[in-house]
Amino acid sequence: MVSVSIRDLQGHVGETVTLSAWLTDKSGKGKIQFLKLRDGSGYVQATVFKGDVSEDVFEAARRLSQEQAVTVTGEVRTDERAPGGVELSVRALVPVGENHGEYPITPKEHGTEFLLDQRHLWLRHRRPWAVLRVRDCVQRAVVDFFHGEGFVRFDSPFFTPNAAEGTTELFEIDLFGEDKAYLSQTGQLHAEAGALAFGKVYTFGPTFRAEKSKTRRHLLEFWMIEPEVAPSDHVENMNLQERFVSFLVRRVLEECAAELELLGRDVEKLRGAAEGNYPRVTYTEALAIVRAHIESGDLPTNVQPDVQPVEWGDDLGAPHETILGHHFDRPVIIERYPAAIKAFYMQPDPEDPRLALCDDMIAPEGYGEVIGGSQRIHDYDLLKSRIEHEGLPLEAFEWYLDLRRYGSVPHAGFGMGLERVVAWITGTEHVREAIPFARMLTRMRP
Ligand code: 4AD
Ligand code: MG
Repeated sequence: MVSVSIRDLQGHVGETVTLSAWLTDKSGKGKIQFLKLRDGSGYVQATVFKGDVSEDVFEAARRLSQEQAVTVTGEVRTDERAPGGVELSVRALVPVGENHGEYPITPKEHGTEFLLDQRHLWLRHRRPWAVLRVRDCVQRAVVDFFHGEGFVRFDSPFFTPNAAEGTTELFEIDLFGEDKAYLSQTGQLHAEAGALAFGKVYTFGPTFRAEKSKTRRHLLEFWMIEPEVAPSDHVENMNLQERFVSFLVRRVLEECAAELELLGRDVEKLRGAAEGNYPRVTYTEALAIVRAHIESGDLPTNVQPDVQPVEWGDDLGAPHETILGHHFDRPVIIERYPAAIKAFYMQPDPEDPRLALCDDMIAPEGYGEVIGGSQRIHDYDLLKSRIEHEGLPLEAFEWYLDLRRYGSVPHAGFGMGLERVVAWITGTEHVREAIPFARMLTRMRP
């Protein structure tokens, strides 16, 4: 007899195997019990016929409670209707311990807040399980992609002395009453030091933003991937983003077909993203697209009909990104935003210094911005004047200015939010479901 995981059952048809599993649900009456089992690798149905097993085994099956752990031995049979194509005919069954009281998440509908309170248990259920397996697949694909492109993984610190993405979203840390430090909003500035040392680097770790707005796209703690390349420029940076995102989508389509099916994801909507050839439009062109949709009333269903066009110089809001996401059948790259609404370190556009050599990638179907990136200012005097102009403390940025004092070259990079990408690929409404334990304004537990 062999011990196998549910994922591998297809290779054992006709054999008798043993599973270590948990009961997710149970039905049947009289002489037959249908046990829905999971073992972390997948889900399978096990059938217990009264005539096939001892009285004790049938009784033990009948008394199993939801989420009780159980060891099940049975014969693997093909069943075309079953997800995974197989089911188990039970021969023996041993419960592993007893549950203390009734499992709180029943098969009936529960409210979101209740499920978030029960997240430590909810993880065991099909949807979270499938989404977080896709997250794992994306995480592995990130590492493979950059390894394949010759990047060095480079870890930026989580405590930083600088604000890089604006001072309003900083979590301040008290350093024993002396100096101040912040939880890192981005690994970019340190990654720039890495790029000048290693040529091509990427960071992959948690980042922290004191976002006071409650939206379905914002977390207080999220994971960001930030490649940085020296030398490089704005166009190469956009090319890298497109190769990267299309690689991730292809990988998930190849490896997670079962998870996407379980989630009911329409994979046709991911085909364009997997292909590449992402359209590139300027900020100014993007405003015209948004305006045309608003004026003709051709709006996605989740955009309020009273949405206003964007005035030149203002940032795009979530509804505008949703309109742009629906206008294209694959991610769209919006480039050259007004410098005034972007970060201090971005290289000005030589053709129009009001603009920055930067871009955002907007996912289709209303998932919004998944990437923000730019070419960086490499000129010492210009960068220094930008830091001063922003009112940032110069002494905290002396090390960053050193990168322009010694061997400075044009360089570029970007940041991709892991949860936004996973939410988009899996078709999940809210980023809080794309991370095991979301941290938000109103959510610190469990
Ligand atoms: O556009 P952002 O702010 O860019 C930066 O931080 C740059 N320093 C990146 C770089 O050039 N190295 O953030 C990058 C991405 C966004 O496009 C979004 O996907 C994600 O990070 N993001 C968030 N995800 C979840 N919750 C939040 N509060 C997020 N804020 C940004
Ligand atoms: Mg951004």
